[in-house]
Amino acid sequence: MKKPSAVLPICPVILGTWALCGWMRGGFDRSEALRTLSAAVDRGVDGFDTAPVYGLGAAECLLGEFSRGFRHRLYIADKCGMVWHTDAGKRAFYADENGTRRAGGHCVRLHLHPESMRFELEQSLRRLQSDYIDLYQIHWYDGVTPWDDIMETMLRFRDEGKIREIGVCNVSTEKMLRCLKTAPLASDQERLSLIDRKAEKNNAAFCARRGIGFLAYSPLSFGLLAEETPSDTVFGGSDVRTLSPRFSIENRQKAAALLGELRPFREKYALSCAAFALAWVLNVPGVTHVISGARRIGQLDEDLKAVGVRLTQTDRNQIDGILKNREKDFPSVRH
Ligand SMILES: NC(=O)c1ccc[n+]([C@@H]2O[C@H](COP(=O)([O-])OP(=O)(O)OC[C@H]3O[C@@H](n4cnc5c(N)ncnc54)[C@H](OP(=O)(O)O)[C@@H]3O)[C@@H](O)[C@H]2O)c1
Repeated sequence: MKKPSAVLPICPVILGTWALCGWMRGGFDRSEALRTLSAAVDRGVDGFDTAPVYGLGAAECLLGEFSRGFRHRLYIADKCGMVWHTDAGKRAFYADENGTRRAGGHCVRLHLHPESMRFELEQSLRRLQSDYIDLYQIHWYDGVTPWDDIMETMLRFRDEGKIREIGVCNVSTEKMLRCLKTAPLASDQERLSLIDRKAEKNNAAFCARRGIGFLAYSPLSFGLLAEETPSDTVFGGSDVRTLSPRFSIENRQKAAALLGELRPFREKYALSCAAFALAWVLNVPGVTHVISGARRIGQLDEDLKAVGVRLTQTDRNQIDGILKNREKDFPSVRH
């Protein structure tokens, strides 16, 4: 395994800002979000992941306001490619500022034309109240812009000092190889959890061989893996979990059954469901960081217990057997 040479956050748990800003994730509690951000810094978290689309600018503004006066102490990972300022690009979904998916809202598109990337970068820097972004990632590929053009644009931003490292999200290893022809990649960000293992064998292993950081997102599958007792929470209308098949009653029961089967391992390492789920992700070969979706300090504290947990090879093999047996219970979904 090759150690990443790029500059990445020191703490292996990065705090994400999608759930924190509440957009599509149950509503925004500004003072709670600021308290969680402060607690993260107090506890040694240095990496914060955001994107323009989270709250249509709101998550970046929150980070910008929070980091005023000590921006240099934070490592900000931002993204580009999901836009709502133009009619160009591939339509992804409609949503309003509250996160409600409705036809009258903004049309969010996938678009990576170099001019659009430039526009996005300037808007992000303004909202972050910063003159640089530590890690700038392609959020989703638009399916049309040549990778050479995208990476050349990234290199230009880097030469101008506006971004420091280049990353990608939601890509195949073939696409990463195309990027690498033009520019070095510091990281790949993919969904990875006990029940979402697609990125484990391909992307994480590829990153390990190449010395590229691997940032795992949605480690709790939006909270499904946080509680052993199936919850009967009814989510609000704008919450993506309302219609997600992952949160059907039947699926919550399947997740609870899986967590029940994993209980002996949790007890051995003295971890809660959430901490165990994050620890398992951090033990996947090639994973360098996990992005926590904590909204509250208590959740963050649970998640941070995953740091430094080393699962033995024997335990990992046994857990692997359990996960493989239950794989068919959790077909791949897009939230
Ligand atoms: N690159 C991409 O395409 C992409 C996609 C998705 C996410 N991400 C990044 O990854 C970050 C994390 O993803 P995620 O929010 O989906 O993560 P997650 O950990 O799978 O889900 C977080 C949700 O789980 C619930 N939860 C219950 N116990 C928790 C605990 N101990 N810690 C944290 N959450 C707990 C919370 O819901 P309640 O509020 O209901 O308690 C919270 O909103 C995002 O903020 C974003 O930065 C990137």
